[in-house]
Amino acid sequence: MAWRDGDGAVRLMADLCPHRGARLSVGDVVGGQLRCAYHHWRFDGEGQCTSVPSQGGACSLAARTRVSVSYPVREAAGYLWAWIGESEPAPLKLPAEFTDQRYATFPETVEWGANWLLALENLVDLMHAPFLHARSITLNEGITNDRVVVDDHDDGFEVRRRDQTGTNFDWIDIHTGALSFVRLDIPLPPSAGPGPPLRILGFLTPRDNAATLVHFPRFRAVSGRERRIWRTLYRLRLRGTHLHVLNQDKEMLEGLRTVEEARRDEHLAQADRPVVHLRRALEPAFDKQRRRFGLDQPPHPAAVALAD
Ligand code: FES
Ligand SMILES: [Fe+2]
Repeated sequence: MAWRDGDGAVRLMADLCPHRGARLSVGDVVGGQLRCAYHHWRFDGEGQCTSVPSQGGACSLAARTRVSVSYPVREAAGYLWAWIGESEPAPLKLPAEFTDQRYATFPETVEWGANWLLALENLVDLMHAPFLHARSITLNEGITNDRVVVDDHDDGFEVRRRDQTGTNFDWIDIHTGALSFVRLDIPLPPSAGPGPPLRILGFLTPRDNAATLVHFPRFRAVSGRERRIWRTLYRLRLRGTHLHVLNQDKEMLEGLRTVEEARRDEHLAQADRPVVHLRRALEPAFDKQRRRFGLDQPPHPAAVALAD
């Protein structure tokens, strides 16, 4: 859970009171300290307990009690960026779109009732666009019979259509390093006003095992009159259209089974190559977690036979 301490700094810590396990997020901030709703124990910005009211406030019990986990967090570009890794925090290097003045920007966040990994698989899966989104005004162009090509880079990999470029959702750039995000372009029709394709970044925040917040800030490199036209059209018409497209994804994802069940008897096609690539890319991190927590589940069948 996130809260602001007495200096206005954002703090991010486990949503779990070390007294008897209440959710700290239903507490409040009093005098710059976080106060648990259940018995009013208080915690400072470092998660250190400062007061146990039933024992008079500051006491030895308070001194030896602290919230179990807290994460370094920074505010930038209108978002909170947390480092949830176990090593020292990597420098925060935001995608250039956030500071590039050429872009007119709209934030957009939706919630999908699906595991974050299924949501990410949906994003790398270019070839769902011409089918699921066939009736949208932005994703109904081009051919439906194509192959996808995957190329690794230093921080992840890129996926593109082999026989089509700049027509539909034909390219995505996936970053799996210190900052995990995707970057993609969507060509816009003339009815969206003059200007280049829409650039979208995607950041996934798992809420729990079965729900994910998906942040999709939108960027279009337009200026002057074009920018004014774009901003007006986006607010009046295109935002609704885009949310409709995202709802199509939501409906599909919320109808999928769990990650484990979905993978047990799937039949993958060449177009699923980026999904397999993603699973393979993430597998070492998953394996580390399994060993750390002593889980004896088998690895996800990431390297399955793939029709070519
Ligand atoms: S559970 Fe938080 S104060 Fe008791
Ligand atoms: Fe989609």
